Amino acid sequence: MSEFLEAMAFRHACKVFDAEKQIPNEQFESILEVGRISPSSFGMEPWRLIVVRNPNLRKALKSACWNQNQITECSELVIFTTDNDAVRSDTPYVRTMFERRGLPAEAVDAYMGVYKNYLAPIEADEVLLENWTAKQCYIALANMMTYAATLKIDTCPIEGFDKEEVEAILDLEYGHSVAVMCAFGYRLKAQSEQKRLDLKQMVEYR
Ligand SMILES: Cc1cc2nc3c(=O)[nH]c(=O)nc-3n(C[C@H](O)[C@H](O)[C@H](O)COP(=O)(O)O)c2cc1C
Repeated sequence: MSEFLEAMAFRHACKVFDAEKQIPNEQFESILEVGRISPSSFGMEPWRLIVVRNPNLRKALKSACWNQNQITECSELVIFTTDNDAVRSDTPYVRTMFERRGLPAEAVDAYMGVYKNYLAPIEADEVLLENWTAKQCYIALANMMTYAATLKIDTCPIEGFDKEEVEAILDLEYGHSVAVMCAFGYRLKAQSEQKRLDLKQMVEYR
């Protein structure tokens, strides 16, 4: 089996972490690096990751996260937040993201125009904008989870939380929001069996 498929088989939503076992910092930083180099729509990288290490903050978050033990017991807790205001069309941030491609000024302006057209119906609605930036986070999340599995590090993606409560606890800047979380660490219990639809149920050829 390829290393990638082995990692896919190793990964499961780990519910019970060994609170005594820490991920070596170098490995954790390599997981963050995998998130950093993940792709995003138009290359806008709207994600802003918060690594929560403070035990008191973890405790406060746990109650806003359906009291899930992973929040306090995992080795590293990553909260994927997004900067929604930065990626609105016509912001200096967006221009910089296009300019860094080293394109001539006219090409940057053309990109800005295409981006504005694309984003107009999305940015007209705060929830749609939050959902669009959150979608980008899930790409980084998936890459980070699978890469972590290659290091035999377990993960649990977490959507089970009260978004407003978590945002209040984190005291996020205006225009920022929480997309998803991920707990990283080491399993205490045997892996659960992967239950999945089969390919016939999932894929249709036309
Ligand atoms: C985006 C996302 C959010 C999830 N949120 C939670 C969560 O809050 N708590 C939890 O225990 N599992 C959570 N899960 C785990 C799923 O329930 C799990 O991935 C699914 O049942 C398949 O099981 P497996 O990952 O162990 O193969 C989440 C999974 C994803 C992809």
